[in-house]
Amino acid sequence: MKMFLDTCNVEAVRNAADTGLISGVTTNPTLAKKANRPDYRKMISEMCDISGLESVSAQAREDQNADGMFREGIELDAIFPGKIAVKLPMNPHGLTAAKLLRRKKEIHTNITLTFTPNQALLAMEAKVTFISYFMGRQEDKIREKHGEDPKAPSEAESYAISEIRRDLERMVSYKERYGSESKILAASVRDFTHVTLAADCGVDVISMPPEVFWDIFSDPLGLTEDGIKRFLKDREPLTS
Ligand code: E4P
Repeated sequence: MKMFLDTCNVEAVRNAADTGLISGVTTNPTLAKKANRPDYRKMISEMCDISGLESVSAQAREDQNADGMFREGIELDAIFPGKIAVKLPMNPHGLTAAKLLRRKKEIHTNITLTFTPNQALLAMEAKVTFISYFMGRQEDKIREKHGEDPKAPSEAESYAISEIRRDLERMVSYKERYGSESKILAASVRDFTHVTLAADCGVDVISMPPEVFWDIFSDPLGLTEDGIKRFLKDREPLTS
């Protein structure tokens, strides 16, 4: 399992990559807007220069036909050939472009906005590199449909989590059953519970916001931190 960061904040990626635990980055136009990076391709190039990163996802315009996305995919890959995964939408144009980018140019791809196992099957058929399943948006939608306050723990929340678990387990099992080399990437990760859930299901990659990455170093009860303090105190009488 690999850990990616889901952000367009280059400094945040540099800091996290210093741990040696991060091997990739996923980006999208919303994250670029949030990070105030209208110079999207420049930001992607800066990400590619960070040492230790194997993969940087760069999103193509979503309103193009397959040919347009194919051509933009070639341009994006040229920013850092081999390291870029061209992010394409889960629709017929996106999948056709992904298949062509792989077959004709050996360019990596990341199919975004995947919400069902059937969509994942299509992406596997197109031989994409990453299939991004949006956990957080899926959870919000299911909870909203069940008429619950999306912030309150509730039955709708457990239902949403069981649905997400079922989707991810299916995607992982399809991948194994049909011998697909596509990697299941847990995206739209909102907190540490999503990380655990994605890992439980055996995904290949979890892409999380920097805050979630730093958060999972701690345990919810603060026992790790307390334990470190106590060891430090008990170390005082030690002479060597
Ligand atoms: C990553 O590839 C996705 O674009 C991202 O995780 C979406 O996250 P959001 O649902 O929090 O916007």
